[in-house]
Amino acid sequence: MNLKVIILAAGKGTRMKSEKPKVLFDVAGKPMIDYVIDASNKLNPDEIIVVVGNKSELVTEHLGGKNVSFVHQTEQKGTGHAVMCASQSLKGFNGKVLILCGDMPLIRHETLAKFIEFAKKSKLSFISVKVRKPEGYGRVVRGADKAVLKIVEEKDANEAEKKINEINTGIYLADSDILLERLDKIDNKNAQGEYYLTDIVNEGADVFLAEDEKEFIGINDKFQLSVASKEVWERRAIWHMKNGVEILDFENCYIDEDVEIGPDTVIYPNVYISGSTKIGKMCKIYAGCRIVDSIVEDEVELKDNSYITESFVGKNSSVGPMAQLRPGTKLLGDNKIGNFVETKKAIIGKKSKASHLTYLGDCEIGENVNIGCGTITCNYDGISKHKTIIGDNVFVGSDVQFVAPVKIGSNSLIGAGSTITKDVPEGALAITRGEQRNIEGWVKRWKEKKMKFRGE
Ligand code: UD1
Ligand code: CA
Repeated sequence: MNLKVIILAAGKGTRMKSEKPKVLFDVAGKPMIDYVIDASNKLNPDEIIVVVGNKSELVTEHLGGKNVSFVHQTEQKGTGHAVMCASQSLKGFNGKVLILCGDMPLIRHETLAKFIEFAKKSKLSFISVKVRKPEGYGRVVRGADKAVLKIVEEKDANEAEKKINEINTGIYLADSDILLERLDKIDNKNAQGEYYLTDIVNEGADVFLAEDEKEFIGINDKFQLSVASKEVWERRAIWHMKNGVEILDFENCYIDEDVEIGPDTVIYPNVYISGSTKIGKMCKIYAGCRIVDSIVEDEVELKDNSYITESFVGKNSSVGPMAQLRPGTKLLGDNKIGNFVETKKAIIGKKSKASHLTYLGDCEIGENVNIGCGTITCNYDGISKHKTIIGDNVFVGSDVQFVAPVKIGSNSLIGAGSTITKDVPEGALAITRGEQRNIEGWVKRWKEKKMKFRGE
């Protein structure tokens, strides 16, 4: 069967109250139009035509890499008019046309395939569904014989029609020539002064009554955007749980589409895992962590409220609570990065630790290194960035500053409170703090002087 898909995406999206075109808003971390295009592609159509209009350059730019063609609707005169704008691409096409809206990302390709199977012998069909709250949708008005008489929009509906809970999902399948014929006949004599696509059913249509109303949420405002996202986050969480991931609260767990997670990993509430992140097995991801485009190997513990971007966390490491691993961080394995530690372009060898309150930027640290509390790599001189290189088995005491560029030899020891500005040879002790002086009885003498002054 020859098939072309038309996706309507030209609308102003007025109800979003935004500068951004509606179809580019993210639903669960992915622009809503991408869902519709992905579902369409699974049907192997001859062509996917996207009707763009409002801020079309942003939409075409976003879809640039996808195999779709564009039709421009310069003035948004309604859904019927939008399809008319694509009529040039349909002339002479001998096949079926599937019409979808760019604002319904939850549609499953399996459902579309079933609908096509149902509708392939019919001249024109559409999908309806029964919903609990029909407000805002077009209602399907049926006659005494149950045949469809028309679809009436909320704004044009009378009280009785408003009570109908069977709605138009906005998905149609029609013979190309029948569609063009019927489009020719529609007008804009309605409450919104628009050319309604729904009017193509006025001369009869077959209806495919779908089961799951959630698939057909049309996103018109930011509340519906949130409802749709929630549904998708849940679908993904369920998918991961079926693959062996333990999710403590699947309603508060946000996993992007391309994320991979190994079995027996446990995810606590309010965790956001995004982009191309891969997480191994038997990890524990505690509450409030956000992980972006990173690789986390097996048996890693990410403790509460840690933020990890474009980083690699090697096997059996522990990060957080409240740590930040910025782009270019590589923990090579068995590492401990504790609370209030920030790393950036930091390669940290096996078994090395930075347990508290530390900044490690632009550095290479060997194996088995202990970085004391409060250590800072001073990597920036106001103009350029410099590197700190630390060998294996180095012990860095607390409150040390490494003024980069600087190289610290293996097996050396850096005394607490030192400001290191020169390279340290292997095995040396480096210490830069002033010597301690104890002045006996000083406090008593000082207090007595103060009291005398005040006349006490
Ligand atoms: C539409 C249907 C309604 C259905 C609902 C399902 C009409 C008249 N109404 O209503 O019966 O229940 O979808 O979600 O068709 N668009 C254009 N050009 C335009 C107008 C709209 O491309 O001139 C696009 C929009 O970008 C959107 C889609 O068409 O992707 C639907 O438009 P929208 O304004 O959201 O229609 P609804 O009022 O939701
Ligand atoms: Ca809509």
